[in-house]
Amino acid sequence: MGSRKNIYQSFFDFKGPNYNSYARYPSEGLEKCIYILKEKLKHIKKDISLLDIGSGLGVPAIKIALTIPNVHFTLNDISISLLESCERKWPKSINKPTLVCGNFLKTYFNFNNFDVAFCSFMLHLINDQYSFFKKVYEILKKDGVVFIVTHDPKDISSLIFHKYFPRFNEIDQIRMKPIGKITAMLEDIGFKEIEVKRIEYQITYDSIEELIEIIEKKDFSAFAHYNTEEYEVAKEVFYDRLKSLEGVYHSSSIMSCIIAKKIA
Ligand SMILES: C[S@@+](CC[C@H](N)C(=O)[O-])C[C@H]1O[C@@H](n2cnc3c(N)ncnc32)[C@H](O)[C@@H]1O
Repeated sequence: MGSRKNIYQSFFDFKGPNYNSYARYPSEGLEKCIYILKEKLKHIKKDISLLDIGSGLGVPAIKIALTIPNVHFTLNDISISLLESCERKWPKSINKPTLVCGNFLKTYFNFNNFDVAFCSFMLHLINDQYSFFKKVYEILKKDGVVFIVTHDPKDISSLIFHKYFPRFNEIDQIRMKPIGKITAMLEDIGFKEIEVKRIEYQITYDSIEELIEIIEKKDFSAFAHYNTEEYEVAKEVFYDRLKSLEGVYHSSSIMSCIIAKKIA
């Protein structure tokens, strides 16, 4: 298995087999998050300016665009190919987003400029999360909200994948901070009205065949973190261990939304 550096290379390697090709969270969980966001913003009648930090393939952004009509999007990602891929999929009926390519922490955004800073499943890729939220605070308008979608490491309990694909644990669970630490950081920076909503989802794989299909199609976000060699090694280990398993397997997880407001 490669080092952590290799894993990141695999994740950010535009030409790599795993870049751009992974399935994301079950849509039910995402839909619940977007419903919560919609409720949060329903009092705003004018246009809403939303910055999606680490927008990736734009799965959440496109769903938000289709659910909440009066949003203008700025999509920020470190990867140009992901931004372009999102642009290609952007629904024709909806105003085009503004695309900003670059590391969020090193990219200039106007102060007091956004009603919403949205960041979904990207916080664990940020080393200095305190500076990240300080910057988010600065670029939000007064009464603007930060909306974070993430996992608490203790809520991840995948009986199969996380046990047999340890790389996923390494990349995600080391940096992924407990929700309490994130809310403490937000409070320290000056955010108010901090709320946490836990959204449970559970996937059940009924058969080994179904699991094998998922592995073969690389239909799981963990594979984004592997380069080809890592994937082949992990697959072999997985198949080897699978032989000794019987019955029904499930993988369950709780995504959390953290919402906080800039009052001053
Ligand atoms: C796991 S993906 C999540 C994508 C999307 N938000 C979603 O929920 O489907 C994380 C994204 O964050 C981007 N990213 C990582 N570090 C970043 C940074 N410092 N600035 C901007 N984008 C970053 C990656 O390129 C990747 O597209």
